[in-house]
Amino acid sequence: MQYRRLGHFDHSVSILGMGCMRLPVIDGNESRIDEARASELLYRAIDRGINYFDTAYPYHQGHSETFLGRALERNGLRNRVQLASKLPSWAIESPKDFDRYLNEQLQRLRTDHIDCYLLHALKSDWWTKLYDLGVLDFLDRAIADGRIGCAGFSFHDELPLFKTIVDAYDWSFCQIQYNYMDEEIQAGRVGLEYAAAKGLGVIVMEPLRGGHLARPAPPEIQRLWDRAAVQRSPAEWALRWVWDRPEVTCLLSGMNDLSQLEENCHLAGTVQPDSLSNEEKALTNEVRDQLRHRIKVPCTACGYCLPCPAGVNIPRIFSIYNDCFIYGDQRFPHRIYTITMNASDLASNCTRCGQCEAACPQHIQIMDMLEEAHRVLSEKPED
Ligand SMILES: NC(=O)c1ccc[n+]([C@@H]2O[C@H](COP(=O)([O-])OP(=O)(O)OC[C@H]3O[C@@H](n4cnc5c(N)ncnc54)[C@H](OP(=O)(O)O)[C@@H]3O)[C@@H](O)[C@H]2O)c1
Ligand code: SF4
Ligand code: SF4
Repeated sequence: MQYRRLGHFDHSVSILGMGCMRLPVIDGNESRIDEARASELLYRAIDRGINYFDTAYPYHQGHSETFLGRALERNGLRNRVQLASKLPSWAIESPKDFDRYLNEQLQRLRTDHIDCYLLHALKSDWWTKLYDLGVLDFLDRAIADGRIGCAGFSFHDELPLFKTIVDAYDWSFCQIQYNYMDEEIQAGRVGLEYAAAKGLGVIVMEPLRGGHLARPAPPEIQRLWDRAAVQRSPAEWALRWVWDRPEVTCLLSGMNDLSQLEENCHLAGTVQPDSLSNEEKALTNEVRDQLRHRIKVPCTACGYCLPCPAGVNIPRIFSIYNDCFIYGDQRFPHRIYTITMNASDLASNCTRCGQCEAACPQHIQIMDMLEEAHRVLSEKPED
């Protein structure tokens, strides 16, 4: 395992972190963690040198934190890891809630401090609310009294807001979604470079897009991978692409079995930044472009249709909707649409004024497509 210093925090973390949002469960029930298998995974992860464990208030419907608390209590393991958890931004209604949630999380985790504490999934409306309620003073207090070691935030909105938040506080680190399909969305590559240049550690989440980039590739994609001089699994290609960036401090993977853990740990022991050849980068770009050909709405995200008078974020909705066709799976897009988007940006706000269609150079029937996208993305898909 290799280690890197986490931004302004005075500790080093393993370059592979354990995401505790996808632990093994019983009967497909998210709230029933299979504790025997999850403990085995966790202890093996520590044996392999992983020291960064990422959880959050809502993971596994609250049971991820309680499970981790119990598991790390054994044999002094708590002292061997950097524990990260997150304030549930959506649940905060008054300044008192900051301490109430943090203290509850400390109890669940059976510890007197959380090493790395994040404001969870910031987007513009939650950031504005938290800021107005005094979240930055709360973070200062919690660091001063030792309940948290350092502060960061996780992020799913767009680049200008990301930069605003980076500049608003003396953060030690941030957490962004980053993988070869998402280089230009959310914080993206520019955000990664921006945060790192300001001295923040950068934790990457969803490096395999929740597992989609690791699944057996469709034949036209596999034919591309087969052309590579060195043969690798789809997961290895995707993880190497993220670790190739020297700005990445730690990549989180929601590993849920031992073979995934072993493959990813092996890679984390050997991979070097800036080591992909130009041919390998070009090949990954080709794979990305092929995957993008599977889209349903030919939106180029040019933004000519914006601003919509009703506030609808048209290109972002089409990008999320297109993911259903790129990966043949609605679960991830449903989660992104319903959890990470501001209510004011949703397609349901469309008044059918027609202004966007007149402006769209791709002649997309935006109003009908938005209606369809909203129907598909709002519906909870079956597991
Ligand atoms: N703060 C936030 O807003 C936020 C949002 C999302 C995630 N997170 C955190 O970030 C962590 C990482 O995100 P993620 O779990 O989405 O990561 P990810 O690496 O994109 O996806 C994890 C999934 O990839 C598959 N996988 C991992 N390694 C593999 C391998 N070697 N071979 C084949 N498949 C492999 C597994 O899927 P299968 O189920 O197919 O086996 C696993 O569940 C989460 O666990 C969570 O802690 C935070
Ligand atoms: S038709 Fe709907 S999405 Fe398009 S500009 Fe009008 S309100 Fe916005
Ligand atoms: S104008 Fe058309 S192509 Fe451009 S962002 Fe809007 S919907 Fe997409």
